Amino acid sequence: MTLVTNRTLLDVAAGAGFGVGAFNVADLTMAQAVLDAARATDSPVIVETLAGSHPSGSDTVFWGLLLRLIDEYPEVPVALHLDHGPTFETCARAISAGFTSVMIDGSLDAAGRPASFAANVAVTREVVAYAHARGVSVEGELGTIGGSKDGTARAEIVLADPSEAAAFVAATGVDALAVAVGTSHGAYKFSAPPDGPMLRLDLVAAIAAVVPATHLVLHGSSSLPSPLRSRVNAAGGTVPSSWGVADEEKVRAIELGVRKINQGMDHYLAYTAGVREALAADPACVDPAVYLAAGRESAQRLLEERMVLFGQAGRAPLYR
Ligand code: 13P
Repeated sequence: MTLVTNRTLLDVAAGAGFGVGAFNVADLTMAQAVLDAARATDSPVIVETLAGSHPSGSDTVFWGLLLRLIDEYPEVPVALHLDHGPTFETCARAISAGFTSVMIDGSLDAAGRPASFAANVAVTREVVAYAHARGVSVEGELGTIGGSKDGTARAEIVLADPSEAAAFVAATGVDALAVAVGTSHGAYKFSAPPDGPMLRLDLVAAIAAVVPATHLVLHGSSSLPSPLRSRVNAAGGTVPSSWGVADEEKVRAIELGVRKINQGMDHYLAYTAGVREALAADPACVDPAVYLAAGRESAQRLLEERMVLFGQAGRAPLYR
């Protein structure tokens, strides 16, 4: 078994009651860390990537290499997912390239403001018709999940409305639904340590109750562990303090019906820590084979921990 759709992957997870991490990858070395962690923990996994968000300069090249890499892991049930597809055209390109799942993010308009419900439904529905005709799963977004790459500009967060969820799913036919419940993307989330539950998990429960056949997705799930930030900064980084989603909240979200947990920043931090430490240990080193391998190993350790936390570890046999 190599590639499966998100629908297949998440249907099995829902039946057995576990969550599946969807891990963003920005280069092939990081993708290998995700797949090595899945192999080591016997996990199904979702590899996800954003269009244009990689150093190769060409989606066609990077996506082709990702598919070739996944071929090396026949024992790992994998879905290859496009994260936050901004347009129908981008989703169609990913489908032609061989992705088994795409997200169409119709939650924002062209100016980056929250889109109308009708506009979101229209574009999502178009992608679903195209994708389903080609055997590919689709994720939509309800509400808007804000976030910031650099801690300055932040897109507005509009929480998902349970009363709209049933109408959105009925009108679009999505397989999975990203619900805005208070998380945000990126390395800058909450400005103080959590002093209790930070997320509106009541919304997860309310939405799960009205769309039981649709898989809920928690975006912005990174925890931003301070030991990782300290490792990056001890080796020359200047990443400011920020707090993410506590492990307990992720576990509780899975119990309440979240099936796909999106994570990028935590293993980006682990990868960067490994690379920086290798370079700091040998400032004369200019060999990417050395410092990228250190990044890969550091990321893999963190990814394995998360696969255990989400409950996907040991579940690959369910797909064989
Ligand atoms: P983080 O930014 O919290 O890692 O979440 C990633 C994500 O949600 C990608 O869609």
